[in-house]
Formats: sequence, structure tokens, C-alpha cells
Amino acid sequence: MGYTYDIPFHVDLSGRVAVVTGGNGGIGGMFCRALAACGATIVVLGRNLERCQLVVDEIVQGGGNAFAISADVTVEAAMLRVKSEIEERFGKINILINAAGGNVKTAIIPQEQMADGGEKTFFDIPVSEMQKELDLNLRGTWLPCKILTPLMLNQEGACVLNVSSMSAFSPLTKIPGYSSAKAGVSNFTQWLATYMARSGVRVNALAPGFFMTEQNHALQFNPDGTPNARQKKIIAGTPMGRYGELNELIGAMLFLVSEKASGFVTGVVLPVDGGYNCYSGV
Ligand SMILES: NC(=O)c1ccc[n+]([C@@H]2O[C@H](COP(=O)([O-])OP(=O)(O)OC[C@H]3O[C@@H](n4cnc5c(N)ncnc54)[C@H](O)[C@@H]3O)[C@@H](O)[C@H]2O)c1
Repeated sequence: MGYTYDIPFHVDLSGRVAVVTGGNGGIGGMFCRALAACGATIVVLGRNLERCQLVVDEIVQGGGNAFAISADVTVEAAMLRVKSEIEERFGKINILINAAGGNVKTAIIPQEQMADGGEKTFFDIPVSEMQKELDLNLRGTWLPCKILTPLMLNQEGACVLNVSSMSAFSPLTKIPGYSSAKAGVSNFTQWLATYMARSGVRVNALAPGFFMTEQNHALQFNPDGTPNARQKKIIAGTPMGRYGELNELIGAMLFLVSEKASGFVTGVVLPVDGGYNCYSGV
């Protein structure tokens, strides 16, 4: 029996190669496990090889197929090396999930509005840190797409899944770089979907609502570890009144990567958000 993981439904991905950037992270790691449980061979891509290897070991020990590659998704030379390694080893990619991303702490400001004052304002964010935020989330999505999608041409069920955010629809306070980069991710997803529509590669995105993971920890907790006011606002702004559980993203992911389920779906940015995006707050 192959690798098992708690998935809401099974789609047959046997024979498929799935590359997951940020595959050692919260959302990416869970996607690796879920795809492996559907029979895909997983390339777990992250900056930290040891952390990628942990995900690989779990999948392989459970009877699945997985392989770790370390690379920074914002660096062209690194991604070209990834392309050669994958080409040599597998000769193709069927599924590309761009889950590397997140908030860059040094580009976060403490206040929601300028009038709130505070020691660090928008005007104090170093250009380098704002650029880091844009690079990680936007460049870190289009660069892997640009370099890796040629390996997806003429492959069964070829599809890209990007990870956008609620902040793409209307910007979240305190994180101007992240918000504008994620708006770019949604826009680029639609652009690439149109561009590749007749090539057999579908391109979609998920827009998760609020899930507790490493990259957003600093935004949700006070320095002493207690929940901060932003957490209460998030829960009040989410009609379902709670944070999402990471495994609640799996069904939407499997739907979008299965051409049997979503073969005529391309260019969508699918919210999985407990209603956050449909609620005006009043
Ligand atoms: N958690 C949420 O509530 C939430 C909401 C909306 C969108 N997202 C998005 O989901 C994606 C996954 O985030 P997560 O919440 O699982 O966070 P996470 O911190 O658990 O995972 C992010 C992963 O990206 C990797 N990474 C960071 N920079 C990288 C780089 N330059 N090259 C390669 N890998 C890099 C990290 O090592 C980590 O493995 C991100 O794009 C994030 O913006 C998360």
C-alpha cells in the first residue's frame, strides 16, 4: 500500500510529478503529503534541505515517492539548477505548486494608520526589506513559473497552483509589501492562465484566509506570546468566527490539480477563508 494521509477524497495522481515550493512549510508540507497520498511523486523544494528531507523521509517511509531539492525561489540560477535536476531525474513536471512565500518581519509596521503614530512607520521601512517582501512573494512565484512550466508542456494534467491571499482582494493593514505582492500573484495567475490556456497547462490560485503558521506568527501574537488585537479582528472579520485548520485547504487544492474535477477551470483565485472575503464588516 502507498503513502496514506488524511485527505477528504482521492484523486488519481499516479505517474505524476508534483513540485511544491515551500514544501517544508506549513501549507506546502501538507500539500506534499496530500499529493503523495494520491500517488504523485513529490519534489519538496525549500531553502533548507534538512527540513525538506524530513518531509521526504516521512513520505518515503510511508511508502510514497518524494525527493528533496534546496533552492531559493527568488534566485534565477538556483531555479535553473532545479530545472536541470528535475529534467534529468524525471524528464517532466505535471503539477507545480508555488507555496513558498510569507511575511518578511522587517517589512511589517506596528500601526494600522499613520495617525496612530509609533516608532516605525511606512516611511521607515528600508527599501531593501520592502523589496525582499515583493521578491519572495511575487518574484518567487513568477520565476518558478517562467523556468519550470516548459517542463510541463504536453504532460498529463499539467497545472500550476499559486498561493495568493486575502490581502490580494483588499490590502491588510501593516503589511504593504506583502499585500501588493499577493495582488500581483493573483493578477499574474490570471495572466499566465490566459497565456498558457491552449498549451494544456491550467493555472489557478488558492487564496487562503487565516491559518496559523510560522510566517504569520509575529503578526498574531504579542512579544510575550499572548494573542494580540489583530487575532480578535481576524476572527470578528471571518463570518465563520474562527481561523482555518490547515487541512481545510486540501480539498480545494486536490480539486484544482485534478483535470478530471477541474479540467475547464483556469485563471481562478479560489478563496478558502470561512467567508472573510465576502464580508464587508457591517
Ligand atoms: N498561513 C496563512 O494564513 C496564509 C494565508 C494566506 C496565504 N498564505 C501563503 O501560503 C504560503 C505558505 O505559507 P505558510 O503559511 O505555510 O508559511 P510557512 O512559513 O509555514 O511556509 C513558507 C515556506 O516558504 C519557504 N520559503 C520562504 N522563503 C523562501 C525562498 N526564498 N525560497 C524557497 N522557499 C522559501 C519557507 O522556508 C517555508 O517552508 C505563502 O505564500 C503564504 O503567503 C498563508
